[in-house]
Amino acid sequence: MASRIPAITLHNGGKMPMVGLGTYQGHDDEMRQVLNVALECGYRHIDTATVYRNEAEIGDVLHEWLSSGRVAREELFVVTKLPMTGNRSGDVGRFLQDSLDKLRLSYVDLYLIHSPVGMKANSKGVLDMDTNHEEVYKAMEEQHPVVTSMAKRLGRTPAQVLLRSDEYPILLQHPVVTSMAKRLGRTPAQVLLRFFDPEQLGRHSEVHQSETGQRELQSTHCRLQIRRIPDLLQHPVVTSMAKRLGRTPAQVLLRFLIQNNLVVIPKSTNQKRVKENFNVFDFELSSEDMASLEALDRKGDGRVIDFKSLFEGIENHPEWPFGIPY
Ligand SMILES: NC(=O)c1ccc[n+]([C@@H]2O[C@H](COP(=O)([O-])OP(=O)(O)OC[C@H]3O[C@@H](n4cnc5c(N)ncnc54)[C@H](OP(=O)(O)O)[C@@H]3O)[C@@H](O)[C@H]2O)c1
Repeated sequence: MASRIPAITLHNGGKMPMVGLGTYQGHDDEMRQVLNVALECGYRHIDTATVYRNEAEIGDVLHEWLSSGRVAREELFVVTKLPMTGNRSGDVGRFLQDSLDKLRLSYVDLYLIHSPVGMKANSKGVLDMDTNHEEVYKAMEEQHPVVTSMAKRLGRTPAQVLLRSDEYPILLQHPVVTSMAKRLGRTPAQVLLRFFDPEQLGRHSEVHQSETGQRELQSTHCRLQIRRIPDLLQHPVVTSMAKRLGRTPAQVLLRFLIQNNLVVIPKSTNQKRVKENFNVFDFELSSEDMASLEALDRKGDGRVIDFKSLFEGIENHPEWPFGIPY
């Protein structure tokens, strides 16, 4: 059952559907039911993480769909994330493998670093101030299915495969590598061989810093402050626009993001809302409507979670991301 919704094309040619299912706080049978409904609607992009503790439920449902032939693996776009306790190069492999085992998949389509700031292993929240994103990213590249299978075939380690560029033409043609080579006046092979030398090549790692929420931390660290901001679903600009267009406020807001070329991953455990959130491709917001919604932006004040209240001294971490002006 193919699903045809718009997708963005990633550097490697992979297609990321513009609507995905958020799964944070979805568990057990509720998670299984919602994912079944979502897949029936046409969702093919699923966002999970080690810390959401629902990879096993998601894996059960995906396995049923894949083994019955209702969906092909290539149609799915599954995202999971390296937890804060695994932000070290030596931990990447085992955390990824654990996620793959739970998801019952041989690969994920996107593996993110859940938070740029890591924690020491088994420390119940002690920050690891020595995070090295280049090393973590390198370890992630080494886990790429193309690299691991090539390493196995050649009897080499993944690191050797990555550095023997003559045996790894795919990386040599990678747009990130070729564009960097052009910018630096080097060959793609030179870029690869210097890949982990930021002094010479500039910072180029594609470390993702998309998320910061941590369920387990919320339960063990009650100091987390969640700032109250106006509920956009009930904002008069949004509700009146939704009424005029015959849509729901959620559809208007999702459509606004999509028209800004942003991929959305709304979470819902309500089956009606799961369907509603997917039906956002049969209408368009005018440029006036887009401008009215843009005007609601509160910039930095719209950030909901204050991580400084969660981890003392987190703002001193070298990778603390919120010092960057909005
Ligand atoms: N905290 C994290 O770890 C984190 C951080 C960023 C992003 N993410 C990822 O992004 C996803 C979305 O996260 P989020 O922070 O944007 O949302 P969220 O806080 O996970 O939940 C969205 C809220 O909106 C409600 N909702 C969903 N569809 C609706 C609709 N059509 N109308 C009205 N209410 C609706 C949901 O309630 P019902 O379930 O009752 O519908 C839920 O309360 C997560 O599930 C996760 O995959 C996670």
